Amino acid sequence: MRAASINVGLLGAGFMGSTHASAYARIDSARLVAVADANRDLAAKLAHEHHARTCDGIEALLDDPEVQAVDVCLPTFLHERCVVSAARHGKHILCEKPIALTIEEADRMIAATEQAGVIAMIGQVIRFWPEYVAMRELLQSGALGDVQAVKAARLSAPPAWGAWFKDPSLSGGALIDLHVHDLDFIYSLCGMPDRVFATGLQSATGAWDQVTSVLEYETVRAVAEGSFLLPDCYPFQMQFRLQGSKGTVEYRFRVAGQVGERDEAETELVLYRPGAAPEPVAAAKKDAYQAEIEFWVDCLLTHHQPAQATLRQARDVLGIAMAARRSLETGEIVALHRAAGDSDMKP
Ligand SMILES: NC(=O)c1ccc[n+]([C@@H]2O[C@H](COP(=O)([O-])OP(=O)(O)OC[C@H]3O[C@@H](n4cnc5c(N)ncnc54)[C@H](O)[C@@H]3O)[C@@H](O)[C@H]2O)c1
Repeated sequence: MRAASINVGLLGAGFMGSTHASAYARIDSARLVAVADANRDLAAKLAHEHHARTCDGIEALLDDPEVQAVDVCLPTFLHERCVVSAARHGKHILCEKPIALTIEEADRMIAATEQAGVIAMIGQVIRFWPEYVAMRELLQSGALGDVQAVKAARLSAPPAWGAWFKDPSLSGGALIDLHVHDLDFIYSLCGMPDRVFATGLQSATGAWDQVTSVLEYETVRAVAEGSFLLPDCYPFQMQFRLQGSKGTVEYRFRVAGQVGERDEAETELVLYRPGAAPEPVAAAKKDAYQAEIEFWVDCLLTHHQPAQATLRQARDVLGIAMAARRSLETGEIVALHRAAGDSDMKP
């Protein structure tokens, strides 16, 4: 039987915590009931705005019997600890991307959630971003023919709101934190690449904060660029071009400031076909974070694991990022091997 509404506890009241909280306020089938953050004032403020209560720490929120599901919006180095603990408490889980900083952490998260039988998903929001959804649908409709080439970019000033982003041991740098969005979307369209080559630059903290990765498939060539090294006045940009044998679709998003200002963005989504004029493509008018959370909540209400943005998929994508890191460190092309019947990369 379908439950009417899910009670959610939010871990983290920072940039993503408040973004998710605003999304819950627009979703009838979920109710934010509790918030925890090491910064208690921040947690109390967000909880007050959303008529939820403040919990004294992560464990207190996980112990709360009214909380049925937790939404992890904590810095990446805390994802494993929180997801494993939430699973042991029997809570369903949405955890922000990237899944974790290492394959070993991701494996422990997968083991804990599968053992507990909880419904779990990683917040790979681009899979739910209306224009990216429209591009995937165009491909699935056959309008583009076979994919031949992909070009993706995600260009940003360093996140100004969290000092932890600068430390690669806490965030993974732009390679793991930012680039993973495009690696995931390419993976969602094309699967695991055969080979990865990457070139880039490290910032003063040793983080790979400027990365260009080339993903080679049997018949597809994909290039993705991610950067946190742009000046703070540089507009946040996302670009994605999907070139097929019958047509090309291209998305451009540009906004002064950061992704938080996304409602103000200049955007363009256009289909180009031989012998035809450029055709603007319509996309749903829905906030991507709301769409992502609605999808997860629907999985909870209907008691099934998500078909996309799973922990295993996120682990594969982290594997691609790790291959890119190895290429950055060695200058070599890294081959990805898959055992027969095994969806996971063997790094
Ligand atoms: N999907 C997206 O578009 C997107 C965008 C930005 C960030 N993210 C991801 O979301 C996650 C959170 O990033 P953010 O930008 O919200 O960071 P943030 O720094 O704004 O917020 C993190 C919050 O966690 C709290 N915190 C830190 N240590 C804690 C602890 N031990 N216990 C309890 N609370 C603690 C901090 O006080 C802070 O309020 C990261 O994994 C990041 O990669 C995703």
